[in-house]
Amino acid sequence: MANPSKPPDLMEAIVSLCKRRGFVFPSSEIYGGLNGFFDYGPLGAELKKNIRDCWWNDMVRRRDDIVGIESSIIMHPRVWQASGHVAGFTDPMVDCKVSKQRYRADQLFWACVSVEVDQPTPIGELPLPEFPSVSLGGNPEKFSTIIGYVSAIESERTNEELHEKAESLKRKRSFRGILRPLTINDFTVASERDIPHIPSPATGEPGSLTPPRAFNMMFETYVGALRDDSALSYLRPETAQGMFADFKAVVDTGRVKLPFGIAQIGKSFRNEITPRNFIFRSREFEQMEMEYFIHEDADWATCHREWIDWCLGWLASIGIPKSHLSEYNHPKEKLAFYSKGTTDIMFRYPFGVQELWGIAARGNYDLTQHANASGVPQMIFDEATKKRFTPHVIEPAVGVDRIFLAVLCAGYAEDEAPDEKGRLEKRTVLHFSPRIAPVKVAVLPLVKNKPELVKRAEELHARLKRRYAVFYDEGGAIGRRYRRQDEIGTPWCVTIDFETIEKDGTFTLRERDSMAQKRINEAELFALLEKEVY
Ligand code: GAP
Repeated sequence: MANPSKPPDLMEAIVSLCKRRGFVFPSSEIYGGLNGFFDYGPLGAELKKNIRDCWWNDMVRRRDDIVGIESSIIMHPRVWQASGHVAGFTDPMVDCKVSKQRYRADQLFWACVSVEVDQPTPIGELPLPEFPSVSLGGNPEKFSTIIGYVSAIESERTNEELHEKAESLKRKRSFRGILRPLTINDFTVASERDIPHIPSPATGEPGSLTPPRAFNMMFETYVGALRDDSALSYLRPETAQGMFADFKAVVDTGRVKLPFGIAQIGKSFRNEITPRNFIFRSREFEQMEMEYFIHEDADWATCHREWIDWCLGWLASIGIPKSHLSEYNHPKEKLAFYSKGTTDIMFRYPFGVQELWGIAARGNYDLTQHANASGVPQMIFDEATKKRFTPHVIEPAVGVDRIFLAVLCAGYAEDEAPDEKGRLEKRTVLHFSPRIAPVKVAVLPLVKNKPELVKRAEELHARLKRRYAVFYDEGGAIGRRYRRQDEIGTPWCVTIDFETIEKDGTFTLRERDSMAQKRINEAELFALLEKEVY
């Protein structure tokens, strides 16, 4: 492999590859798309299924202490009252009255721009007359004059953008003096005095942004023929409440004893104010969540750490390198009152380091809430102490779509490979782990006009596809066919050639990452797949 690298605009390259090769399309694109909704094409559906299957196998089937469920997407509305979502599942929202754009207040950044001058600016020359110049540190020769405000939406360039805008404001106002350092804040901490002066990112002009107000992100719907409050319900904003609401049913079926987990994979819906960064934050997405119930006296911190390590190990098993990951511990003062601790596994996306997987120690809050609201105790009998108690829970919660994007970002590379004549040409590769690759093996007959050779290739293809996702391709030069598979992340190509039919039945196995080739037989190929695809 020669000079592997990532393109400067990795996101653009990934979005374009996803569309070109059928991984992800905008939803209902023929009608112009719908913001925050996506469709997964043939390769995307396979990749997503593989991510789900790996998680389910490792989290549920291969463990003795975790069971899986599938709860309904629309649950009794009282579930969401008890869980606190009806009252508190909100984001702070800001409207621009002129452009009609909406922003999440915590993603809208601003700064007050001031310059250092030798003399106080006369009132008549002040750009913002209600802010007179102030002396700096009591120095009679140093004053600070506010010349305006700047704003920018959160991105990997927020700070740079605000500084550029501050410089440009100074030029526009023709102010001399040194620009004072900017104090950057998000809109949730903008005061009544600041808000009228903060420019809308849409128009660049101040005066149109509203104060932040709470916006509930749950999608509402009506169950049954009536459209009144008695029929109001919600599309679930998380799968977790399914596990809490079914806790007693799972315990009563008798298969579990503490510590044990209940897991599920399923769609969740959030009316995000600003869906963005492709599939990173969308309005319909899929979660894989597990609630691990432990004794009320158990050492929750050790269990929490064990689950963080489990998640890190699992991400490595599907090919996400450690170098892209970090941990973020939520500060104590920002945790909900019932929470004992939350750690997010962060991934270095091209648009910044962002949450991939949250691992929360939630105490017994959820079960207690449901016990109180439903009147049905959510308890376990402790044989040792002969006492009943409500178990505590550790919750690893991750989005399938965020993992999907992470494997694309980590796996995407451009390098060079020799063409038919040995000349180096650019190649795009997705370095997917064989566990999740949408196609495991491509079967390529060297030529398509030799019936015996084609027959052998078709037979091998038929045997392989009983167990694996495989692809048969007889069109074009062999190098081009390899390149097509590299671009969709197929780990291996096998080429059926004249030696296969004339000599010992072996074929060429070409490995995607190293591009190395060797001859193997069918039993060896199946053994390789058995070992690597699990
Ligand atoms: N039950 C806890 C819970 O739902 P969360 O942090 O809100 O916690 C868990 O969500 C995970 O779901 C996140 O770490 C992320 O991977 C994924 N997720 C959340 N909102 C998402 C969205 N709008 N689009 C895609 N994935 C999302």
